Amino acid sequence: MAAATALPVSLSGRFKGSFAYFTIKDRLPQILTRVIDTLHRHKNEFFEEHGEKGVEAEKRAISFLSKLRNELQTDKPVTPLEDELPDAALWNQYLDYQRNLSNGNGEPSWFQSPWLYVECYMYRRIHAALAQNPPIDNFDVFKEGKAQNFFESQEAVIALCTYFQELLKNIKDLDEKQLQEELFKLLQVSLWGNKCDLSFSAGEGSSQKSSPLQSLENMIPYILVNDMEKLWSLLVNAKKRNTEKSNVRVDIILDNAGFEFVSDLVLADFLLSSKLADEVHFHGKSIPWYVSDTTKDDFNWTIKQLQSANHMWMSRCGINWEGNLKKGVWVYHDHMFWTLPHDFSSMAEVAPDLYADLQKSNLLLFKGDLNYRKLTGDRKWEYTIPFHQALNKFHPAPLCSLRTLKSDTQVGLKPGQGEQIQASEPEWMVSGKYGVVQFDAAL
Ligand code: F6P
Ligand code: MG
Repeated sequence: MAAATALPVSLSGRFKGSFAYFTIKDRLPQILTRVIDTLHRHKNEFFEEHGEKGVEAEKRAISFLSKLRNELQTDKPVTPLEDELPDAALWNQYLDYQRNLSNGNGEPSWFQSPWLYVECYMYRRIHAALAQNPPIDNFDVFKEGKAQNFFESQEAVIALCTYFQELLKNIKDLDEKQLQEELFKLLQVSLWGNKCDLSFSAGEGSSQKSSPLQSLENMIPYILVNDMEKLWSLLVNAKKRNTEKSNVRVDIILDNAGFEFVSDLVLADFLLSSKLADEVHFHGKSIPWYVSDTTKDDFNWTIKQLQSANHMWMSRCGINWEGNLKKGVWVYHDHMFWTLPHDFSSMAEVAPDLYADLQKSNLLLFKGDLNYRKLTGDRKWEYTIPFHQALNKFHPAPLCSLRTLKSDTQVGLKPGQGEQIQASEPEWMVSGKYGVVQFDAAL
């Protein structure tokens, strides 16, 4: 575990009035209430599928979740996990680690502990509520919301798939400058796609309604750190160095299902079709996570939906993408580390296999706000601290964060930049209006 001493303090609910405080006080209980409602609403379905056993399991899961909500709202100590899922021991070791941190905040609890820890812990307990209660143990309580986000973003998905299929028609004739422009566009679509997450809106709808390509130009000023040129240089140079033996590999550490995920797939397809990369590896979540994060089931479901869509270009995308998976030029991975509470500076120690795998990549693209928090440790950094420093020795390969700001931590800004926006827009760090495309060369 990285030494906590030289680092700034963790964001936490103990800072009254902070975004972490409001999240723990208001948004997390709202999410739990929605989860409980979802289970209630599916009672008949559980009965039809599993008979009385299904209904009993639903009741047990609800009582487990109500207890969890009560523990959270009354700032009870965080308790060890009692299930026997494969990651339980790691979670319990992490609790011990938190107990032994000598920051004088006493027994780890919902409001006193680091926000990142307790928020992750809530999702892990939601998972336990289901996983421990067969026969409804495979029920994803967030599935409905993720599917709804996808369907409500239909027009944006069509606009993006159509644009992309038109682009593919003459991609071979594009010169470097034009390829660069297209890459920048699709990076921005994927960046702003990150506005559409459901934990941010406490599970209420948050879909992409307008055409995703329309106002990119106008949104450039909202990209606070824009390292797209660096990404371009890295990819073009990797391509030039590329020989038969060394494939260019890009990894996308996914965030939300729904429109954001489609925008990531389009970007991935572009990287292959333009020959900027030879293989793309996707990293999803192995359990339902932060309401809208992409699991393997969401991954496959989305591609199937596109394939069978009534729209020619949507289904063309779906068919091609299924083909990429079959050919092995797209690979889906999940690893339990992504749903542990650790920030990424602990990866080399806690999940050396994953770290070693990421080291094989030419470029890691980290999508979204939670990944940014885990990259930078979810701490009260000064805005001007270099990104490289905040990564705190997490340097498996060159990496880039594509993140809209939805939590109050940000690094790598120019002197005065943060203060200037703060003066006119106090909510700038949590509104999702601003974004970063922030690169680190891992040198
Ligand atoms: O609950 C808050 C939060 O962790 C925010 O930081 C962020 O808005 C959201 O959940 C997750 O965002 P993303 O899907 O972009 O990782
Ligand atoms: Mg998310």
